[in-house]
Amino acid sequence: MDILKTENLKSYYILEMGETKKEVKAVNDVTINIHEDEIYGIAGESGCGKSTFLKTICKLVEPPLRMIGGTIYYQIDGKYVEITEIKEEDFRKLRWKYISYIPQGSMNALNPIIRIRESFKDFFTAHQKIENEERDFEEPLKKHLSALGLPVRVLKSYPHQLSGGMRQRTTIALATILKPRIIVADEPTTALDVVAQRAVIQLLKDIQKLQKNTIILVTHDMAVHANITDRIGIMYAGMFVEEARTDDIFENPLHPYTKFLIASLPKMGDKTYKPSVPGVPPSLSNLPPGCPFHPRCPYVMDICKKEIPQLVELNTEHKSACFLNSKERVE
Ligand SMILES: Nc1ncnc2c1ncn2[C@@H]1O[C@H](COP(=O)(O)OP(=O)(O)OP(=O)(O)O)[C@@H](O)[C@H]1O
Ligand SMILES: [Mg+2]
Repeated sequence: MDILKTENLKSYYILEMGETKKEVKAVNDVTINIHEDEIYGIAGESGCGKSTFLKTICKLVEPPLRMIGGTIYYQIDGKYVEITEIKEEDFRKLRWKYISYIPQGSMNALNPIIRIRESFKDFFTAHQKIENEERDFEEPLKKHLSALGLPVRVLKSYPHQLSGGMRQRTTIALATILKPRIIVADEPTTALDVVAQRAVIQLLKDIQKLQKNTIILVTHDMAVHANITDRIGIMYAGMFVEEARTDDIFENPLHPYTKFLIASLPKMGDKTYKPSVPGVPPSLSNLPPGCPFHPRCPYVMDICKKEIPQLVELNTEHKSACFLNSKERVE
């Protein structure tokens, strides 16, 4: 069963400057299904709408962002609930307990003037009743940290006393203490060195194993995806242009954009020049007609300039939004 699904989701930034109105189509008609207990990765170039998609599915839409259309369902106790219909005060009960959102750059958002323990306590008391501090807070907190392989002494530290990697792991521990069904993490490994990245990836894997939750992980780093995700969705200009099991994405990318992303990855011992994606991404407030990738695509055909290709399943669990694939399929 799916844990979360969207249908034709659209979220735009609406910018009004005097007489003129600009629409930035950051999430543009996204239909997606996230399975229970999987690690689902989202990749794509900077500015393609990854963070906006996460904010929208976490019901964190604030002006100038607006959800223009579509639906978002969470599966709660075997039933699909349309979350835009849940009142904010009721939705608050789901935050952190049902869905946890770890924003981009969150490791720098820990309160700098209080010790980590107090951050945990503030967070905990905002969501759970504490009658007996030792029994209701200290014990479960220490258990949680130890289970995740984090030293309990971080609790005594101030954020600046921890390395970036340790701060990030602490933030993730904080966000998962109430054992959410879904963890949404936006670029948790970006800006960390390779060793710290590995520790964060291991932490996410451990949490998933222990808590059996679903992780939706955004990173533009394909090596991180290869390391941790079960499936990957590739975003381009606010759309999902390909989706498959992680192995299939790397072994048999179907969309020309994904092919570029994979081909540009460095391979062990290979010193040949790796082409990056040619050209620049389109402006999301002024998209080209047809497929948004067509101006950069080496295989562009006439139809690509006129019609938007739909994301269709071509092989088992492998979807692509490209006329080239559907044409090959027909022939
Ligand atoms: N507050 C805002 N007002 C107007 N436009 C915005 C705002 N925030 C983001 N955008 C635009 O929306 C688009 C998508 O942004 P988003 O942050 O979702 O991309 P991203 O894929 O997460 O990028 P990155 O990899 O750099 O984090 C971009 O074109 C961005 O410029
Ligand atoms: Mg982002």
